[in-house]
Amino acid sequence: MGDLEAAITVRTPRPEDLLQVVELENRSFVDPWSRVALEQELVSDSLRLPLVAEAAAKVVGYLMAWKIVDQLHVMNIATDPDYRRQGVGTALLRAAAGQAVEMGIVEITLEVRQSNQGARAFYLRHGFIETGLRQKYYVDNGEDAIIMTRRASGLPEP
Ligand SMILES: CC(C)(COP(=O)(O)OP(=O)(O)OC[C@H]1O[C@@H](n2cnc3c(N)ncnc32)[C@H](O)[C@@H]1OP(=O)(O)O)[C@@H](O)C(=O)NCCC(=O)NCCS
Repeated sequence: MGDLEAAITVRTPRPEDLLQVVELENRSFVDPWSRVALEQELVSDSLRLPLVAEAAAKVVGYLMAWKIVDQLHVMNIATDPDYRRQGVGTALLRAAAGQAVEMGIVEITLEVRQSNQGARAFYLRHGFIETGLRQKYYVDNGEDAIIMTRRASGLPEP
C-alpha cells in the first residue's frame, strides 16, 4: 500500500464539500455536470449513493451512484488529476461496492466514453466487463458509450 492509499478516507459527502467537488468535476470532464446537479447528487437518499475520498484534509475524489432495484449505477467518478494512479478511485469503488452488497445490490453497472481509455482500463482492472454499447450516447460529440458491468461482490479486489 502506498503512502497516499494509507491516508485516504472514504466518507459520505457534507454540504461544505460541494465547492471542491465542482472544481474537481470541471478539471476532470469536457462536459462537466452543473453545480446544481452535483449538489443534488451529493445528498444520500433512498436512490443516491454518493461518496467522497479525502486525503490531507481535502477532497481528492468522489463517486456518485444510483441504486436502481438490485443494480448500482455509477453515474460519476473522478479523482483529482494531482492524485491519480494512487488508489483513490479504487478506494471509492471498493467502498461503493461494499455498501451496495449491504443493500442487497447484486450488480454494478456504468457507461464510459469509448475514447476514455484510462477509465476503461480502471474498470477492467476492477473486474468489469463490457456488456453493451449505446450508440451516440454523448450529446457533445456523438460518441458511443460502452456499458460495463460486474457483480457487486465475489470478485477479488486488485
Ligand atoms: C478513472 C479514474 C477515476 C481512476 O482514478 P484513480 O484514482 O487514478 O484510480 P486508481 O489509482 O485507483 O487506479 C487503479 C488501477 O486502475 C488502472 N488505471 C487507472 N487509471 C488508469 C489509466 N489512466 N490508464 C491505465 N490504467 C489505469 C490501473 O490498473 C491502476 O493501477 P496502477 O496505477 O497500480 O497501475 C481517474 O482516472 C479519473 O478521474 N479520470 C477522469 C474522470 C473520468 O474519466 N471518470 C470516469 C468516467 S466514466
